[in-house]
Amino acid sequence: QGIIEKSKMKGIPVIIDADGLWLIAQQPSIIQGYEQAILTPNFMEFSRLYEAVLRDPVDSNDHHGSVLRLSQAMGNLTIVQKGEKDLISDGEKVVVCSHEGSSRRCGGQGDLLSGSLGVLAHWALVAGPEKTNGLNPSLVAAFGACSLTRQCNNQAFQKHGRSMTTTDMISELGTAFSKLFET
Ligand SMILES: *[C@@H]1O[C@H](CO)[C@@H](O)[C@H](O)[C@H]1NC(C)=O
Repeated sequence: QGIIEKSKMKGIPVIIDADGLWLIAQQPSIIQGYEQAILTPNFMEFSRLYEAVLRDPVDSNDHHGSVLRLSQAMGNLTIVQKGEKDLISDGEKVVVCSHEGSSRRCGGQGDLLSGSLGVLAHWALVAGPEKTNGLNPSLVAAFGACSLTRQCNNQAFQKHGRSMTTTDMISELGTAFSKLFET
């Protein structure tokens, strides 16, 4: 909580995952309205947060609307709902990342997403709006990080199949990055 408050005071972007999301679900006001924040919940974490903030269960027939509503209720900070497809919203748009991965998800894969998102969010903010075609830089960064993680998953699965671990995915980062962003 202290780190989040200091980051807000200094205008430093923050990515919040896992235990951090647990904290936010207990006390949403810690982060509400801080547009430099990006939250990366899985479906379970998303539901917990949604119920805490909107005081309503998630509408399982409307995943897009739910992500949009939670982002707006949090003051338009960026939400990345990880899943079979990743749903990303900044309170205005909902972007879907369905870049091909594989049928396997590894424990720790979310750390690869939030870690690469930290880098891409920084780059997108420094690059400025003309480099992100006027789109919210956090939205662009989130789409990039989701695509990158899925590309790593795809490449590692081709080599290791069902025995793939997140470490195998990390080994693919360099080539996945080149393939997506440097060709
Ligand atoms: C969030 O974004 C929506 C859509 O652009 C806008 O209508 C709303 O006023 C914004 N909310 C805040 C708190 O800025």
